[in-house]
Amino acid sequence: RTEIRSLATSVTDYIDSEVTVCGWVKTIRDSKALGFIELNDGTTFQNLQIVFEESKLENFKEVCKLNVGSAVSVCGSVVLTPNAKQPFEIHAAKITVEGVSAPDYPLQKKRHSLEYLRSIAHLRPRTNTFNAVFRVRSVAAYAIHKFFNDRGFVYAHTPLITGSDCEGAGDMFRVTTLDPLNPPTNEDGGVNYKEDFFEKPTSLTVSGQLEAECMALAFSNVYTFGPTFRAERSNTPRHAAEFWMIEPEIAFADLSDDMRLAEDMIKSVMGYVLDHCPDEIRFFNDFYDKTLLQRLQHIISSDFGRVTYTEAIELLIPHKDEFEYPVYWGCDLQTEHERYLTEKIFEKPVFVTDYPKEIKAFYMRLNDDNKTVAAMDCLVPGVGEIVGGSQREERLDVLLSRMKELGLREEDYSWYLDLRRYGGAKHAGFGLGFERLIMYMTAIPNIRDVIPFPRTTGSAEF
Ligand code: 4AD
Ligand code: MG
Repeated sequence: RTEIRSLATSVTDYIDSEVTVCGWVKTIRDSKALGFIELNDGTTFQNLQIVFEESKLENFKEVCKLNVGSAVSVCGSVVLTPNAKQPFEIHAAKITVEGVSAPDYPLQKKRHSLEYLRSIAHLRPRTNTFNAVFRVRSVAAYAIHKFFNDRGFVYAHTPLITGSDCEGAGDMFRVTTLDPLNPPTNEDGGVNYKEDFFEKPTSLTVSGQLEAECMALAFSNVYTFGPTFRAERSNTPRHAAEFWMIEPEIAFADLSDDMRLAEDMIKSVMGYVLDHCPDEIRFFNDFYDKTLLQRLQHIISSDFGRVTYTEAIELLIPHKDEFEYPVYWGCDLQTEHERYLTEKIFEKPVFVTDYPKEIKAFYMRLNDDNKTVAAMDCLVPGVGEIVGGSQREERLDVLLSRMKELGLREEDYSWYLDLRRYGGAKHAGFGLGFERLIMYMTAIPNIRDVIPFPRTTGSAEF
């Protein structure tokens, strides 16, 4: 069997030889003694034209009756067609029907809305849009591993089931083997976790950062890349309950090293995807955003913006009437504020740094002003925040007093505190939301359409 991808990349190797290609019928038409199939096998974005004739096929009538979506295997010869739309086609000597497609196949040849396609997540990988999105997703994942491995980073696997809360945002999915309706209780009436599987309350992880820090303080440079879970009730186009995050952690490094790494990584992944998915990106450019290609090329070749939180607030205050939420020093930036900054003021990706400590997590390093922390978020047009990171608090006494202020129990984090007791070092890291990066690179506006089987509030079908 020859993959359509191999034909498309080196057709001259196949001229004058018999090939067998297998795939699914995207379109089919026939007139009397001659028919045409556009075939796709998913190995490339491009379809392959099959020409079939009554005089050559025993089962001509059977093939003519095939519906869109049928699976076939075609044996035939490769013919160059320099004057046609497609550079070559296959003249079939034999077509074997592998599996017919019933006439009610939901993906007839017409443009369906993304909302409709979401309701048939099991079939949508066969459409052009999802064929392109999921290949970009796969190629981008590879590009991320390549980026870090080329720089000698160790890929660290952090647990999905965890007994600690990294972000302290209280949006964790509990993991338990107890009967949730009738859990065993202690004398004082509380749940008796001694009878639970892990003998303590556990959850699905919201971030692998704390464990990545342990690995970074042994390997210097590490990254994680895996699923994370948040029981956020926000029903928005950019929040999923299950999403993938890339979390590098670097030792002997500060916030500017961290931002440089994030910028290098985003540019490198974009460059790789542009090089390896040109058909897909052109498709998104044609059907989703006519400025996409130009924009991606521009991002790769120019510097991201940099602004402190305090400066960002000063830039936003003159526009306060355009926002639903108030803007003042100390406010948590809302999506509308973030998008205004990156879309209207900077018109490119921008890092916002040094946020007030009150709106950020306990582990971020306190700045000398005692009011802000060495945090950075990377905001991009169309999506908003794609990266959240910080330099970590390496000073044991400062960390302990921050935890006390926030009511975190020292005994729950003893292992994390040990990192500051035994050879603690300046270190930093960030989390990149993989789906948000894919949205940014494809111009697909909803996170539900960049994950094969999305989990969002109220929806976990398939
Ligand atoms: O800003 P966040 O919450 O940062 C952390 O979790 C840190 N522990 C990361 C670190 O420093 N190692 O999340 C990081 C990124 C966000 O910028 C966003 O891109 C993505 O994860 N993200 C989500 N993506 C999809 N759906 C959600 N519900 C998301 N929540 C966060
Ligand atoms: Mg964040």
